[in-house]
Amino acid sequence: MSHEQHTATVRVGSNIAFIKYWGVADARINLPLNNSISMTLAEAHTTTTVTWDASGQQQTDEITLDGRRLDANAAQRLVAHLDRLRALAGVDYRATVVSKNNFPMASGIASSASGFAALTVAGCRALGLDLDATRLSAMARRGSGSASRSLFGGFVEWEKGIDDATSVARQLYTEEHWALYDVVAVVSRAAKHVSSASGHTLAATSPLNGCRIASLDAALREVRQAITLRDISQLGPVIEQDALAMHGVMMTSHPSLLYWQPETLAIMQAARAWREQDGLAAYFTIDAGPNVHLICEQESVDALVERLDTLPGVQRIIVSPPGPGPQGIEN
Ligand code: PMV
Repeated sequence: MSHEQHTATVRVGSNIAFIKYWGVADARINLPLNNSISMTLAEAHTTTTVTWDASGQQQTDEITLDGRRLDANAAQRLVAHLDRLRALAGVDYRATVVSKNNFPMASGIASSASGFAALTVAGCRALGLDLDATRLSAMARRGSGSASRSLFGGFVEWEKGIDDATSVARQLYTEEHWALYDVVAVVSRAAKHVSSASGHTLAATSPLNGCRIASLDAALREVRQAITLRDISQLGPVIEQDALAMHGVMMTSHPSLLYWQPETLAIMQAARAWREQDGLAAYFTIDAGPNVHLICEQESVDALVERLDTLPGVQRIIVSPPGPGPQGIEN
């Protein structure tokens, strides 16, 4: 294999879940408790280059994230993922990984989703492994559950599955289907205290977890139908309810996880007031962090951004329509 074939660069969009993944059925291989549905984002993405050293000279994996070289401790989860790729290819090459996000990391925009998906796709390509999107989705899931969904563009459902091979995402509709927007109000750039990776194992300690899971089949049906019909008034209330249900589980687990900041609640209440008083059809959802994602149609984006700009504590606004699946970039 020539040197060129040992390197690959890939850009992958993050995704925002409408029905959330929260809680694991099998932590060892990241099998979730429930199916989840998301939209892949065009404007929040990770670009990752993986270069494998086939000469055997390189002693350790070298990983640079947003310009910062990770020490052994910080690199652990990524090295474990590189180990999975090495095992799959049957090689023991070390890798150089350079990864860049165009959005703040670890603050409720899923850098782990685009990050692990990009690492999986670039890593496999650079090894010459020819895996289809479904197998790549299963591989990415092992790094971070939500990464399984970023293997596809547009609107995506991750089937919880029963084993490593069946717990994979599939595309419901391409990004052309519906010009739905995620308007992210960034209130904090600080990294979160408890990562979602450790939070998933706590879900089962909440007395509310079983109730949420039991209600999800109906919610998943509603969300699929709302996307099919491009009906924001059907989609909105369901996604708000599941975000609140997930945060209810987080808040009532042992130990309790409280990701919201005062600004988080202020934006949630403002969104409801704008909707009820002014008919602005935007609905919130929140991941494992304090930032608020407002979901709306294209026609509402300008009015929404204008209003968010007037709220104290909103540091940055990211506006994204649905985006494509992984894009290879020529080196
Ligand atoms: O993929 P993880 O382990 O970072 O979990 C993602 C969890 C949420 O973002 C809160 C929900 C989701 O489905 O994206």
